[in-house]
Amino acid sequence: MKRVSVTPVTTISPHPPCTAQNRPYGLMATLRHVSDLVTLAEIEGAAERLRGVCVRTPLVPFQPSLLIKPESLQPVGAFKLRGAYAAISSLSPRQRANGVVTHSSGNHAQAVAYAARALGIRAVLVIPHTTPSVKVEACQALGADIVFVEPSMEARIGTATQLAGAHGFELIPPFDDARVIAGQGTIGLEILAQSRSADVVLVPVGGGGLLAGVATALKLLRPSVRVIGVEPELAADALDSLKAGEPVAWDAAETGRTIADALRVQQVGDLPFAHFTKYVDGIVTVSEDEIRSAMRVLAFQAHLVAEPAGAVATAAYLYHRDELPRGSAYVSILSGGNVDPARLVEILGPVPGTEDSG
Ligand SMILES: Cc1ncc(COP(=O)(O)O)c(C=O)c1O
Repeated sequence: MKRVSVTPVTTISPHPPCTAQNRPYGLMATLRHVSDLVTLAEIEGAAERLRGVCVRTPLVPFQPSLLIKPESLQPVGAFKLRGAYAAISSLSPRQRANGVVTHSSGNHAQAVAYAARALGIRAVLVIPHTTPSVKVEACQALGADIVFVEPSMEARIGTATQLAGAHGFELIPPFDDARVIAGQGTIGLEILAQSRSADVVLVPVGGGGLLAGVATALKLLRPSVRVIGVEPELAADALDSLKAGEPVAWDAAETGRTIADALRVQQVGDLPFAHFTKYVDGIVTVSEDEIRSAMRVLAFQAHLVAEPAGAVATAAYLYHRDELPRGSAYVSILSGGNVDPARLVEILGPVPGTEDSG
């Protein structure tokens, strides 16, 4: 593995506890102007650049009123390639020459590594040391430089920002970035092109880039579509944020309890949140048991491998239909399939019907 020389993050500074009053980053969402929001033209521009790089994933008919969009079929196993490639491909030749840095719990890092390699650019990845090894190994295989940090937003952002300043790398944030949001929004364009009847779309929420982009594309093109974010009960900061009218942070120790490692972000981004307030119809939360059960249903009945974060939207359809808007065709975004093999085996349990086979 290649390593860059950097001060270990634990010695940079002690990080204060993260609270609603002490946000780790950015302007307050309420200060954002509508003109800051991602436009349909930006999403369509991203779609042009992604052609030939990202898979146009199918809408897989599953239950009578449920279509699944399996982003696990992307080259890096998650939708994240859309945002990462959209952002990096928009850089000037000078910015490209300097290289890129990002912070991520795994899938975005892998996507940045993949996109940077495709474009011939150096990538440095700041990764929480708790990230599942399957994701870390995939990043290493893509030739990126890796820096491990504590699993807190402050540690991740602090180290990535420090590296960007010291080495001139372009920072490619995982969700709080218009270029990234535009890339994720290309999923919304595809859903509308693939289904005339889709009227409720269920989207996993971590930092909110995916939900922001998809909701923007859907609402600007088909305003009647209802867009619902889905997150674990154990990391329900997006729900709290919508209730409070501004991004609210959860402690890393709290969000760290969910099995959905990709959704352990402590606080949605300011720019994603500004999109939520304009385009998102609601947030539904799902339990850990429901996430596990949805993973089993997806594997055994839909023949699709989902990582825990990738299963939350389907869990909302399966177990919280009464909380969802009425619809004739629901779409759940299966956002990723990068699950540690041992964890997958543990969650899937015995193959149905073989428990007593000895
Ligand atoms: C598989 C998967 N699903 C959902 C998300 C959440 O995306 P966002 O942070 O844009 O809300 C992530 C983020 O890493 C992810 O990897």
